Amino acid sequence: MISTRRSVRRYTDIDIEANDLARIVKAGLMAPSSMNSRPWHFIIVEGKDRLEQLSQCKAAGAAPIAGAKIAIVVTADATLSEMWIEDSSIAAAYMQLEAEELGLGSCWIQVRGRLTADNQLAEDYVQQMLGIPETVSVECILALGHKNEMPEPHNDEELLWERVHINEWKDK
Ligand SMILES: Cc1cc2nc3c(=O)[nH]c(=O)nc-3n(C[C@H](O)[C@H](O)[C@H](O)COP(=O)(O)O)c2cc1C
Repeated sequence: MISTRRSVRRYTDIDIEANDLARIVKAGLMAPSSMNSRPWHFIIVEGKDRLEQLSQCKAAGAAPIAGAKIAIVVTADATLSEMWIEDSSIAAAYMQLEAEELGLGSCWIQVRGRLTADNQLAEDYVQQMLGIPETVSVECILALGHKNEMPEPHNDEELLWERVHINEWKDK
């Protein structure tokens, strides 16, 4: 449901049903990937303490993970595809759209290229915490849960139609 999706950062205490989680992960596994390399690994993280620890992966911007019911750490084996950033990003976006379809809230938490509060790479922190091999790179973490806030869908007026060019670049 592209037209209603927004980032949701507050979640209720209600559990995510196993079937719903399976559908979300399946959406990721069905995503397109360069040369069908399918380099992804998705690590599902649950439990308050673990989620709290995972939310410390960045100095700022990762707090929604602590209040999430489940986090999906989106990684890819960089040895399988030069395009692992694109492959993992598309899979993450598909999972966000499937979550929205199911009425669940999600937020993309960037990991790649970000730092912890003590200037460690956020990626190293997540790899160490979850035992992820060094060859497997971490793109982002999806925080997931039942919505406890309802951001308005984007409306037509705020869309950047001036960024759309037909046949050639035109300054507008
Ligand atoms: C590559 C990327 C990185 C993002 N990183 C974070 C993040 O670290 N923390 C966060 O709370 N939201 C993050 N977001 C969510 C954006 O802030 C959000 O998508 C944007 O403000 C637009 O709002 P919307 O998703 O409700 O349309 C990220 C989104 C993308 C696509």
